[in-house]
Amino acid sequence: MNIHYLTLFPEMYEGVLNSSILARAKEKGIVDYHLINFRDYSEDKHNKVDDYPYGGGAGMVLKPEPIFNAMDKINVEKPRVILLCPQGSPFNQKMAEDLSTEENIVFISGHYEGYDERIRTLVTDEVSIGDYVLTGGELASMTMTDAIVRLIPGVLSNEASHQEDSFSTGMLEHPHYTRPREYRGMKVPDVLISGNHKLIEEWRTEESLKRTRERRPDLLDN
Ligand code: ADE
Repeated sequence: MNIHYLTLFPEMYEGVLNSSILARAKEKGIVDYHLINFRDYSEDKHNKVDDYPYGGGAGMVLKPEPIFNAMDKINVEKPRVILLCPQGSPFNQKMAEDLSTEENIVFISGHYEGYDERIRTLVTDEVSIGDYVLTGGELASMTMTDAIVRLIPGVLSNEASHQEDSFSTGMLEHPHYTRPREYRGMKVPDVLISGNHKLIEEWRTEESLKRTRERRPDLLDN
């Protein structure tokens, strides 16, 4: 998979794309990340990327030329082009699963300002990571990258682990325990030490259901 990021702040990505699972996925040759500063594609002699809104009003608007020029440069087959904005569809696990099968993804991140409406003609999906306003789309695109890349076969060493993820099953995960068997008076439930796999599975399903009912009853409506 090739992931392209159109951004004015490529330096924001350094730590995230070069750490942990995302870095390892790149080392394994499963994914490659391409950072594109769309200011380099401005047609303005001062490299301006935004301008005042037609019709007046507060705030600036991202000009179309830098984004269109950067997209021409990328020039890949059938990319999913994702515009990050608070008005987009809410990101979720199903969307991450869907995107994890793509060959090419382009994230477009604005900062501070709105997008010239014509930019939307380049876009296949508009996505929000939650009902709050960030200063730009960069953190949203990194969040999405993390959720997507870990689902690509070969990225996680334990393939089964993400099939049991919260949300993949439609429920939150059951509680987990490791050694020691007792810590500061808190004991590991006996059933987990019983060696009875059927009972353990039943306990886990029951705990998943209990946790989902308590914390996210909305998930059980689906
Ligand atoms: N840009 C600003 N806020 C955002 C959000 N919540 N999701 C995605 N992109 C954004």
